[in-house]
Amino acid sequence: MILKIVKYPDPVLQQPGEPVTEFDDELRKLVADMFETMYANQGVGLAAPQVAVPKRVTVVDLSMGKDPAQKLVLVNPEVIFREGRQYEEEGCLSFPDIREKVVRAAKVRVRAQDETGKWFEMDGEELLSRCFQHEIDHLDGMLFIFRMSGLKRDLSLRKIRKMQRAGEW
Ligand code: NI
Repeated sequence: MILKIVKYPDPVLQQPGEPVTEFDDELRKLVADMFETMYANQGVGLAAPQVAVPKRVTVVDLSMGKDPAQKLVLVNPEVIFREGRQYEEEGCLSFPDIREKVVRAAKVRVRAQDETGKWFEMDGEELLSRCFQHEIDHLDGMLFIFRMSGLKRDLSLRKIRKMQRAGEW
């Protein structure tokens, strides 16, 4: 089922997600719906708060549905190691049409549970590293506009207000 993606400034986006403790059918249904919703919106990552579910669940697929091996489910994820720096453009499905450069670690290692509750660790570089950091931020109620420089953030907020006034947001 395709879910509705909530947009900034919906308060659920800035509320830390609750840890997942039950690895049941409800969680598996949420994960399946999140993949469907992400693909329908041409995203490479989606966090549960973006579909108004304040839980620590995120899905990632850099292939956008083309390669099943790239489908990742991260439940209760944490960044346990970070290294280097990258400064590249990012977007977010909760901020349609906003793309700006954000500073991120070049490489990260994440520790997470899969949808059955099994813990695993995984390294990410470049886009995957950025995606992990962006999605895990969502689970902490942190949004990418607050990672931008003050100037880029002001520009983005102005653009959002303009779109809101025009009924395009
Ligand atoms: Ni996002």
